[in-house]
Parts: sequence; C-alpha cells; structure tokens
Amino acid sequence: MNTSHHPEQPSPNGQPNPNGAHPAEPHGLGSFPEPGGERRYAQIVGWGYHVPEKVITNRDLEQIVDTKDEWIRTRTGIEARHIAASPRETTATLGMKAARKALEVADIHPHQVDLIICATSSPEHIFPSTASIIQDGIGAVNAGAFDLSAACSGFVYGLAMARGQILAGDAEYVLVIGSETLSRIVDWTDRNTCVLFGDGAGAVLVAASDVPGGIMATELGSDGSGADLLTLPAGGSAIPASLETVSSGAHYIKMDGRAVFRFATRVMAEATRKVLDRAGVSVDDVDLIIPHQANIRIIQSSVVKQLRIPEDKVFINLQKYGNTSTASIPIALCEAIEAGKVQPGDNLVFVGFGAGLTWAAAAIKWSTPIEKPEATWWRNTQRQAAYQAAAARSMWKRAVRRVYSQVLAGREGE
Ligand code: UT7
Repeated sequence: MNTSHHPEQPSPNGQPNPNGAHPAEPHGLGSFPEPGGERRYAQIVGWGYHVPEKVITNRDLEQIVDTKDEWIRTRTGIEARHIAASPRETTATLGMKAARKALEVADIHPHQVDLIICATSSPEHIFPSTASIIQDGIGAVNAGAFDLSAACSGFVYGLAMARGQILAGDAEYVLVIGSETLSRIVDWTDRNTCVLFGDGAGAVLVAASDVPGGIMATELGSDGSGADLLTLPAGGSAIPASLETVSSGAHYIKMDGRAVFRFATRVMAEATRKVLDRAGVSVDDVDLIIPHQANIRIIQSSVVKQLRIPEDKVFINLQKYGNTSTASIPIALCEAIEAGKVQPGDNLVFVGFGAGLTWAAAAIKWSTPIEKPEATWWRNTQRQAAYQAAAARSMWKRAVRRVYSQVLAGREGE
C-alpha cells in the first residue's frame, strides 16, 4: 500500500501546517490539498481493545437489585457486562492495554505517536487527563495528550479531531482511545441505570496516508438543553463535592431513560444520513454500520427501521458488554474485524449519541488490510522495551522531583 504511514520512520512531530488556512472541502470529503497538489488522508491503521476479566450476568444483577434477566434482555438486549473488579483496573490502565494493541497491529513504536486523545466519561481524575497518564504509561514521549468529554459520542468526536490534525499536516499518528470504568460511577442500587453499563476500552491508531479513503467525513452535534437528562451531577464546579453530595448519591449517574431513548432514535438516523451525504455515499452502498452499543431497540428503531439498513449490515455486540460509553464503538470495530465483517474497500459508518446531549457520526472508506502484519521479533522487542523504559522513566522522574522538593524545602528552612 502506497501510504505515508511508514512504520519504520519516526514521525515529524510538531511540523507546521503547510497550508496555512484550510480551504473548505467541496463535500467534506478527503483531505486538504498539499502545496505539491498531493492529498492527505486519515486512515485507521491499528486497533485494539481490552475488557476486564470479571463478568456480571443479568442473573447476578437479580441478586443485587429488583430486576429480572428477562426484563434486561427484552428491553435492552444486554446479557452480561465486564466490570473492573480490581483497584488496579482503571480507565487509564484499560486504555493503555487497548492502545498498546493498536500500536502492535499498526507496527508503530510509541515514540512515533504525535497525539493521544482519550474520550471518556469516567476519567481517572477531573485533572490531570487520563490521556496524559496513558501517554506516560506507553512511553509516547513525543505525543501531546488530552481528554475529550462528549460522553458516549466521545470516540467519534475523537476521530474527527484526529482527522483534522492529520489533514492539517500537524500530526502523522494520532491514538484515539475510548476507555471507561463506569462501574465506579454507577449507583448499584438504581436499577434504572446499573443494569445498562459496563467497563472496557478500545483504541485506534489514525495515520496520515496518501491512499484515498479513510475517515472521509464526520458529523458532530450537541443540544445542551438536554444536559439534565443524563448527568453525573456533583464533583464539578457547579456542585462541588461535600458530605451532602456524597450522602445523597449525587456522584452517581442519573438518567431519564425514556427521554434519552427518544432523542437517540431520532439523531442516530439523522446523523447517519448527514454524514453519508457529506461523504457522497448512498445508504445502499454502506457495508457496515457500527452504532453505539446502548440498547438493541434504539439500534433497531433508528438505523434498521428508519434507514432500512438490513440487520446483517449492523454490528451488534452489546449483549456481551452492555453500554461501555466511549469504548463501545472501538470495541465493536475490533470484534467486527475479528469476525471478518470489515474488508478493504468497505464503506463503514460509526454513529453514536450520549450525554450533553451529543451525537456524532463518521463515514469511513476502509483501506487497511485486516490481516495483522507479521511484526518482526525485533520490532515487538523494541515496543516492549519502550514500555519497560516508560515505567522506569516515570518512576525515576517522580523520585527526582521528590528529592529536589525536599532539598529545596531544606534550603528554605535553613
Ligand atoms: O449511552 C447513552 C446511555 N443511555 C441510554 O442509552 C438510555 C436510553 N434509554 C433506554 O435504553 C431505555 O429507556 C431503558 C432501558 C433505560 C428503560 O427502558 P424502557 O423500556 O424505556 O423502560 P421504562 O423506563 O419506560 O420503564 C418501564 C418499567 C417501569 O416500571 P413501571 O413504571 O411501568 O411500573 C420501570 O420502573 O420498567 C421498570 N424498570 C425495570 N424493571 C426491571 C426500569 N428498570 C428496570 C429494571 N428491571 N432494571
């Protein structure tokens, strides 16, 4: 494949945008023209996911809250979900594992990554960003990093940001991660929400390429008048943490499920239509839709019924994982690839919705071979060494900072 995605070469991190201003694209397609007339495209060249080992089935939930396996299956399609049971499983550690797999598939060294975007609704902290912790953990020493807050639409928002950075010539490799430990912010006594969510992470590596295709168009939307329909009320600046917020359960997810359901069925179909229009692809030419995995009935009444897309062109895995928010689309993409449902030349649509309210869709012309490249022993060893070095470097820097602070404090006390 003739592409500027060259695993062997380090990327020119931080290069200025050669185009200056970015001319508008005629149909939102393809790429910004380069000075020499060459075009850039943003291709997904690596992918990976990781879910915690512990599985909680609907039957297990029957022991915890007043619910029934039958209710959950028929109203949502969910049968089980993975839960981060160990305190060592956090949004960052799940995200790191998914990111490493994506780098392995792309056969890219962490030093080549220019930017890490972590979409999450359950970050490690309000700050620092989970993306920075992942950056440190994978040894992506040349990468910028930030978290993206657009709830379950966040992964597709992240793809749109990655595409923009790449088409502008500001990045060669961007890691987009969706990672969640929603089990930590779910009220396990609230049957309206606790049966729906699960933990996990998915990641893709987006690379600059001269092969036409890749992320062809995106559609992003928001309607903040629905902010109260799905929210984690306390812990931010509006309602700071206090004894009262803790005792009233204001640090848990609150949701008006019916209102979110109505909104979701409307925007999923609309966003899909718009993004396909922008990409110049007809609904009939779509090979696979990967929707946000929240509820099978939302998927059926939006993309299947309203767009008349046959069910075998809609990928669904929510029965195994529940709603993993930002991670649901990248995990589903990985499983669709594993199942042989994604082939070079295929037209894909990713479409999601979530708190905000937000929605997002991306139209992708898949151009990357799906067989995992034969990563050489040497390249794998280099990557593993980079991860070990990253851990050692991080510990060393922390130790040096501690000693330095103690020395300074000692001098001030003299
Ligand atoms: O990523 C975005 C995240 N959010 C979503 O995707 C949520 C979108 N909304 C939904 O998926 C659905 O609205 C739910 C699955 C949350 C609820 O399904 P529904 O068919 O809209 O149920 P409902 O809220 O209308 O409730 C029907 C009944 C109620 O009982 P009554 O009032 O009719 O007696 C609920 O109390 O089902 C009851 N119910 C339950 N029963 C057993 C609600 N949750 C449960 C439960 N087990 N877990």
